[in-house]
Amino acid sequence: QRHLLGIEGLSPFDITALLDMADEAVEVSRQVEKKRATLRGRTQINLFFEPSTRTQSSFELAGKRLGADVMNMSVASSSVKKGETLIDTAATLNAMRPDIIVVRHHAAGAVHLLARKVDCSVVNAGDGAHEHPTQALLDAQTIRRNKGRIEGLTVAICGDILHSRVARSNILLLQALGARVRCIGPSTLLPAGIERFGVEVFTDMRKGLVDADIVMMLRLQRERMNGSFVPSVREYFRYFGLDREKLALARPDALVMHPGPMNRGVEIASDVADGAQSLIREQVEMGVAVRMAVLEALARNLPNS
Ligand code: CP
Repeated sequence: QRHLLGIEGLSPFDITALLDMADEAVEVSRQVEKKRATLRGRTQINLFFEPSTRTQSSFELAGKRLGADVMNMSVASSSVKKGETLIDTAATLNAMRPDIIVVRHHAAGAVHLLARKVDCSVVNAGDGAHEHPTQALLDAQTIRRNKGRIEGLTVAICGDILHSRVARSNILLLQALGARVRCIGPSTLLPAGIERFGVEVFTDMRKGLVDADIVMMLRLQRERMNGSFVPSVREYFRYFGLDREKLALARPDALVMHPGPMNRGVEIASDVADGAQSLIREQVEMGVAVRMAVLEALARNLPNS
């Protein structure tokens, strides 16, 4: 494929191949000499219209570890602030002949639109509440490395499902690889008709966590709740925050994940986030590896590869 725009459209074979490549990238990243020449001579532009710590920095490191010239485009100080449109911005960057553009945008579908306007490969680094494919890939890789498999596991995704591109990409990926997915949250933060994705839905977190192998917590995305109901932090934590008592309802060997950024004391207690069952730091390490795998896979389809 020329682009990575979503998990939708990837087969279980594609996903597994990317995870296998990411396992190799972990080994590269753990060596003292981390640099490879796979993308030498190639140009990667990271174009982030929304804030990011993990995704942007790991795409930058991934590109650099593969030998690419990586440019982080600062949207805040760009001509976007003077009213330049997404399409004109894309056309301008395209004229500089990049090989790969990594894009994050607040509007669902914006990355697909941009991909139709440029000649290079495009990677979706998160578009609105639509998809965040590399997050789902790194989550799957973290699960696979810790549980040895994904098929047959019960994964409970908890919290603000309504505004979460991470939830959507994870539902698609985890089901493609044979996991059972539960979505847990207050009814106001569950998308209407989410059952059609084949997930089990719970509005009582205590019931939804029973026998879960993986508990994946999501951030309350207040910035996307324009005018809609915003729960109070205290009440939200009481019913939907992951603390030790609620975690004890999952399997004894259950593992805890969070894509970040975390709001401690809102959706997750600090002692759980930092506890022995937490994979949160490992998710960050896998983020670099998965992004190396994605860039490498796209590079194989670049002209003159
Ligand atoms: N998980 C994630 O996308 O984090 P950032 O917003 O920091 O990139």
